Amino acid sequence: MSASGSGAPNVPGNSSTTGSGEANVLKKAFPHVDLDGHNLPPSPAPSSPHAGRRYALATELVYTDSNDQYNASSVPIYQSATFKQSSGGGGGEYDYTRSGNPTRTHLERHLAKIMSAQRALVVSSGMAALDVITRLLRPGDEVITGDDLYGGSHRLLKYLSTNGGIIVHHVDTTQPEKVSEVVNSKTAMVLLETPTNPLIKIADIPRIAALAHEANPNCLVAVDNTMLSPLLLNPLELGADIVYESGTKFLSGHHDLMAGVIAVNDSALGERLYFPINASGCGLSPFDSWLLMRGVKTLKVRMDQQQSNAQRIAEFLESHGFKVRYPGLRSHPQYELHHSMARGSGAVLSFETGDVEMSERIVESAKLWAISVSFGCVNSLISMPCRMSHASIDAKTRAERAMPEDLIRLCVGIEDADDLIDDLRRALVQAGAVNVTLDGFHAANASVDSQAAPAA
Ligand SMILES: Cc1ncc(COP(=O)(O)O)c(C=O)c1O
Repeated sequence: MSASGSGAPNVPGNSSTTGSGEANVLKKAFPHVDLDGHNLPPSPAPSSPHAGRRYALATELVYTDSNDQYNASSVPIYQSATFKQSSGGGGGEYDYTRSGNPTRTHLERHLAKIMSAQRALVVSSGMAALDVITRLLRPGDEVITGDDLYGGSHRLLKYLSTNGGIIVHHVDTTQPEKVSEVVNSKTAMVLLETPTNPLIKIADIPRIAALAHEANPNCLVAVDNTMLSPLLLNPLELGADIVYESGTKFLSGHHDLMAGVIAVNDSALGERLYFPINASGCGLSPFDSWLLMRGVKTLKVRMDQQQSNAQRIAEFLESHGFKVRYPGLRSHPQYELHHSMARGSGAVLSFETGDVEMSERIVESAKLWAISVSFGCVNSLISMPCRMSHASIDAKTRAERAMPEDLIRLCVGIEDADDLIDDLRRALVQAGAVNVTLDGFHAANASVDSQAAPAA
């Protein structure tokens, strides 16, 4: 381990090479510094949890070690389907990339460390991750999940309930009582998103996990952490058994790859999840593993900027009379709950205009905001979920779940916040979404309540 990796101050000599008198002086001068580096975290973490010291997440994201023969700083891409064996009986660490690949393993260990998990597995998309997780289910099993789910997750669960004999209950997971009403000893899985997408509803992970485990100790609580990333939320520390996320979003950050990540703390569960990956071949390719490894290193700087931009944009829209959903706003009905679990508010928000055609005009008038599904990218995106990402949920179900058809979702990037606000203001004016007066402007369809609110 190099001294530069220890985080120790630049002291003359090293306590392990100096006389014991000098070592004692140094120890006294720096009582909290591990001068010998005995307690440094390994990186990537081994597949068992490390009980010793951990670096802050910002450091863990960037810092990796490998046993590469040439000490390459960036993990090599092992673009090889097979690995030669030294004996006829096989037994090499890797033999076939569907089963395992060194680039993928490096990424999985790095992610396990970041997600505070014992084991992480990477697959070809966020939906592939959910597919792998739901392969743990048997016909007759019951699943409880939210009523504001990502459209693709909804579609997969619908398929399983139609073709796989799985009973799926969609309830409002913002109310743990609604989960209590349906949970029973056959509940094999609870599947949560928080904040939900696009209605930004918050689920109380510790409470729901406790009541699910009480009803059935074998019930698996799985949390889709795509909206917040490991930087802002650790569901495994809040009672979840499985955390998964779409690596296509914040983890990679550039919309140049598709990936899914699954993480667990129970090694037997990890093996059960690995089985369908090996069996079907949905493990992440070597090149995409390398790309994701590169992307994840900048997660902290990207998310910091995206969040601070999102907060300003949410405040801008709210102050002009729009109904905004963002957990960073005090007006969010579950502000306290969200911040009791998470270390930040994320960078996805939604707002209503009161008119579907007006929303369409806003989306089409924006210039900096690209009309696109997805989120978590460095550039800002705008979309109408009911027309795009959630169109796979039929209109009747959307109406039952009180999903406003005029909802606009903003996925905030790392651009200059003033530029983003200027572009949005121009789009609002062009679309006729605001009434402009000499004193400023206000949402044309603002509710009476928000009209009364002082504009910031
Ligand atoms: C919350 C959420 N979960 C899962 C997914 C699926 O991820 P992927 O598109 O990588 O399959 C998405 C995609 O938008 C998502 O928004």
